[in-house]
Amino acid sequence: MSDVNTVAVIGAGTMGSGIALVAASSGYDVLLIDVSEDQLSKAKAYHTKISARNVEKGRITPEDSAAALGRVQTHTSMDGLVDADWIVEAATEQVDLKKKIFQQMALLAGNEVVLATNTSSISITDLASAVPGVEDRVIGMHFFNPVPVMKLVEVIKGQATSEQTTARTLALSESMGKIPVPANDCAGFVSNRVLMPLINEAFFAWADGVAEPEAIDSIMTLGCNFPMGPLRLADHIGLDVCRDIMLVMHSGLGHDKYLPCSKLVELVESGRLGNKSGQGVYDYAR
Ligand code: 3HC
Repeated sequence: MSDVNTVAVIGAGTMGSGIALVAASSGYDVLLIDVSEDQLSKAKAYHTKISARNVEKGRITPEDSAAALGRVQTHTSMDGLVDADWIVEAATEQVDLKKKIFQQMALLAGNEVVLATNTSSISITDLASAVPGVEDRVIGMHFFNPVPVMKLVEVIKGQATSEQTTARTLALSESMGKIPVPANDCAGFVSNRVLMPLINEAFFAWADGVAEPEAIDSIMTLGCNFPMGPLRLADHIGLDVCRDIMLVMHSGLGHDKYLPCSKLVELVESGRLGNKSGQGVYDYAR
């Protein structure tokens, strides 16, 4: 997009690092910001690994790959937001934390800058309430994991999001090689409203002894053509993320059918968070 040169991404976890890589590969300068140096190093290692794979597969030249990697700058401070033309917040899925980050974004960013959030379920209107006066520039840009592979950006308009912000977000998503699809601002939006109860139900099936995880996943991959079974997908997304999204939908939609299964909660509380922690439903070589 011609009026955007620099995209800032706040949060260098699984989603933030993926968004940063896709933005850099699409020609944008990227400021990747995280309070943790360790997280930023992991993001850099991820970028190097995925870029090397794309070179090996002939999808990108070594020169273009090096240029894309060179466009990502990492920072532990938000000061660099003054230079951003677009900001995507991809921090931990906690409403108070996100609101604090949004206040920093609104304070530092220029007055044309879109303040986007990659929240997977928190209300955009609620987040926008933390930045009175600039709510028209707040919007949801919900990417999917793994970001370099998944085509969708679910675009969520808050009550005050302007038409201009929406149009620019659709255009930016397309410029990053994604297919944006709009949805309304309601807990879980469309994707997680449908996906998370399905994943949660797979935990109930396991907890009730209907079948072991391998069998549950095989049934869903072989019988329903899922690319990966729901329990393996939960590990891939992060079990803590799955639990938190269920809790947001429980409080936002007010129905007990959205309570997370106790089996899922127990795994999270024992530190088994999925691929990222080395153990979840399944064990992974670290
Ligand atoms: N980052 C980048 N690329 C990755 C990747 C990652 N983390 N994981 C896999 N890939 C690439 C591989 O390198 C491979 O590319 P290649 O063409 O160079 O070989 C390609 O994806 C296919 O990978 P594999 O051959 O290893 O394995 P699969 O064919 O099983 O594909 C998958 C892996 C794309 C993850 C596929 O299993 C899949 O689509 N799973 C479902 C993912 C899904 O549903 N995501 C949405 C989660 S919900 C969400 O994100 C919303 C949030 O709010 C919770």
